[in-house]
Amino acid sequence: MRRYDLRALAHAAIAVLWVSSAWAGAPIDLIVAAAHPGPTIDRNVFGQFAEHLGAGIYGGVWVGKGSSIPNVRGIRRDVVVALRALKVPNVRWPGGCFADEYHWRDGVGPQAKRKSTINANWGAAIEPNSFGTDEFMDFIAQIGSEAYVSVNVGSGTAQEAADWLAYMTAPTSTSAGEERAANGHPEPYRVKFLGIGNESWGCGGAMTPDYYLSQLKIYSRYVRNYNPAQTGDRAMRRIAVGADGGVTDYPEAIMRAWHDKVWSWDIEGLSLHSYTTAGWPPKHPSTHFDEREYALMLKDTLAMEGLISKHSTIMDKYDPEKKILLAVDEWGVWLAPMAGTNPGFLVQQNSLRDALLASLNFNMFVRHSDRVRMANIAQMTNVLQAMIMTDRERMVLTPTYHAFRMYVPFQDATYLPVKVDAGTYTEGMTSLPRVDSIAARDHQGRIWLAITNLDARESVRISVALGSAEAHSARGEVLSAQHVDEVNSFEVPQAVWPQPFAATASGGALTLDVPAKSLVVVQLE
Ligand code: AHR
Repeated sequence: MRRYDLRALAHAAIAVLWVSSAWAGAPIDLIVAAAHPGPTIDRNVFGQFAEHLGAGIYGGVWVGKGSSIPNVRGIRRDVVVALRALKVPNVRWPGGCFADEYHWRDGVGPQAKRKSTINANWGAAIEPNSFGTDEFMDFIAQIGSEAYVSVNVGSGTAQEAADWLAYMTAPTSTSAGEERAANGHPEPYRVKFLGIGNESWGCGGAMTPDYYLSQLKIYSRYVRNYNPAQTGDRAMRRIAVGADGGVTDYPEAIMRAWHDKVWSWDIEGLSLHSYTTAGWPPKHPSTHFDEREYALMLKDTLAMEGLISKHSTIMDKYDPEKKILLAVDEWGVWLAPMAGTNPGFLVQQNSLRDALLASLNFNMFVRHSDRVRMANIAQMTNVLQAMIMTDRERMVLTPTYHAFRMYVPFQDATYLPVKVDAGTYTEGMTSLPRVDSIAARDHQGRIWLAITNLDARESVRISVALGSAEAHSARGEVLSAQHVDEVNSFEVPQAVWPQPFAATASGGALTLDVPAKSLVVVQLE
């Protein structure tokens, strides 16, 4: 047995210790309002974002057909298997800032003829264009997901974007469809979501809201989806660039224009980008941090709630029927780059803290399910708050990956309000709610409950009631670790790993002992 195998075993033993050593104190009441269901939790809030950035695509997804790393048509097999378990609803691609410098023609046709370009946004890396449209579509088909394609508004034209959509969606009776067929895919691709530009107030061209709006109207009209299977309810949804965090000029201008619009243009969504950074530029460490740092970042992430409310209020003013979805299509914790890495590659570690931070964001999105119907974590592999990290043939699943996997039952389930006396957890100058929770009923009528115990020191005993009905048992998983900054490394890949969790009612009461700094997801019977 190799040295790291022994270390992995030791960590597994420790994991069992933190699960069983809880002392929870007096119970707090948690009531799931099962008789008062809310809206559907759109599965698309569990979306991913894969940009041509560092090893986000090259190395993390694409290794090439000739690679010794096991792959299917150049796409790494281990990553596909891991992502399938997340039931990834959509993948946003090719950027990010990269999207506004991307020219799709560089990435189609025979590999040997593809252009090499420079990824000027991200570390001046050579972009070989070996992962282009057909490879992306192959990738999302392999993981069972849908395409969210961002077109180039910053340095492209509406014609270029229209030609790209025609290439992807037009029938083979057209030249565009014929070209796609010649490249191996006669069937039109599905493009479920279309991003019209990215951060057009910043890296996407520093456009004023009015200038962007004039572009938006043109792109929304002429960048058409010709796939005959995408009509009616299945029509492509166009997402406009929206807010930079709390800045409201874009959402205000776009929603006002949409309210008074003429027939020839439309959108179905508005984006919001907000990262958890606790200051800019990102300087907080992703490893070896203490509880003060842990509490600080969790506090910072909870600001998402206020942002969603703020933008929802603007949207409600112009769209009280909530036709336009709010897409939080870049979110996550953005930390200092790891020592020894190219700062332009945005490489950071991913800890237990980050998994809990993800769960808090899920909960905030879910509580706003009426408006937030899409979200994309930044990013999928090797970049920022990644699900997966790779190093040549090695792959590790991060704690955030596990949080996403544990929340799969919430996809398309019906939101059930939760009432819980959260209490307060204080660390230094930072005070936070001690507990956060959401619940939902899935299509089979099963009730799921997610509880995050933010308290880094104390477990919490929770007495669960279902409003009118009684809960007899709970069965699911718990994610925690010895330390808040515990990570999964290539050497010890299972340091933060979900463990089984179960509880049975006694004396008519169902109590759950939720360990300190943990996420519990259970099905209630
Ligand atoms: O996710 C990294 C970058 O952050 C994206 O490219 C950009 O849209 C945002 O500023």
